[in-house]
Amino acid sequence: MYNLLRNALFLLSPETSHEFSMDSLGALNRLKMSGLIAAKNVDEPCEFLGLKLKNPVGLAAGLDKNGDYIDALDALGFGYVEVGTVTPLPQRGNDKPRLFRLPEKKSIINRMGFNNKGIDHLVEQVKNRKSKGVVGINIGKNKNTPAELAVNDYLICLEKAYEVADYITINLSSPNTPGLRDLQFGEPLNQLLGQLKDKQVQLDNQTGLYRPILVKIAPDMEAFDIEQVAKAFVKYGIDGAITTNTTIKRDAVQGLKHCDEMGGLSGAVLLDDSNTALRVFKETVGDKMPIIGVGGITKGEDAISKIKNGADVVQIYSGFIYEGPKLISDCVNALRTLK
Ligand SMILES: Cc1cc2nc3c(=O)[nH]c(=O)nc-3n(C[C@H](O)[C@H](O)[C@H](O)COP(=O)(O)O)c2cc1C
Repeated sequence: MYNLLRNALFLLSPETSHEFSMDSLGALNRLKMSGLIAAKNVDEPCEFLGLKLKNPVGLAAGLDKNGDYIDALDALGFGYVEVGTVTPLPQRGNDKPRLFRLPEKKSIINRMGFNNKGIDHLVEQVKNRKSKGVVGINIGKNKNTPAELAVNDYLICLEKAYEVADYITINLSSPNTPGLRDLQFGEPLNQLLGQLKDKQVQLDNQTGLYRPILVKIAPDMEAFDIEQVAKAFVKYGIDGAITTNTTIKRDAVQGLKHCDEMGGLSGAVLLDDSNTALRVFKETVGDKMPIIGVGGITKGEDAISKIKNGADVVQIYSGFIYEGPKLISDCVNALRTLK
């Protein structure tokens, strides 16, 4: 059924198709008919960072940037849902077109640029959701905030998201906000992590709630840099990591239509590089920090490869666009075989 639907949706431009699909999912859920397309047999409870997930296959950030579709996505069978990236102020993102399909390789290039309605809107949506599933909030900086003030944007979002989120992800790895990835290195990284940790301790004391902070990294760093980043996460007591975001490399899609579009590449072609980054990260942190593995999962065995390279649970995005909710059950079933 999803294949038929996908063929029709792929006749539309990627962004129109995205908007139409999300609205349709929302409507289907309000009519209590999500079961028609939801993943089947995905009840596989597990624990991650003390959170009780319905299964180990989550939705990665970026599909529901504003938290407008949490209940509908939960009803499709995801084990947990990450919303955002959200910024302190609403912003339009980059000019369209900014989303491109590379269907021959089940891949996507995007340069959305954190288009979102702002943290206040997202917090309301998370508060008002009906579903009981785990929801992570992924936060970033506004495009117009200068690099030296970036920390403030993260602190604003952390404070506003803290009570309603089950976990909070610090996105340092989108290639579509100028200067963002520089925050993954050296002193800017130390400053950021130190201040986030202090804020978490303060908010924990104020609210009596401990919300884990995860940081999401890029797949494009050299092994040495990944090791430095991993050591910094441990040093500052970051609770977990998400490896990885999209890549700026294009080797795997040379010659394909849209291959030279600027932005981040995701989907099947990302799997190997993403897994390499995951492995290096895991070898550095050992058992000190749990990891969400994301990047390039388009079939069940890819989810297994994430766990074998050191992830505790996984997320999907591009694969979900190409395969639909069945990819959730394929991954859950594949991961069952590891037990
Ligand atoms: C259209 C699109 C938008 C995305 N937006 C975000 C975002 O706002 N924040 C973020 O952390 N990651 C974002 N991502 C990255 C995904 O969360 C994920 O890390 C990446 O796509 C690799 O996973 P995949 O190969 O399963 O897609 C986006 C990806 C795509 C395709």
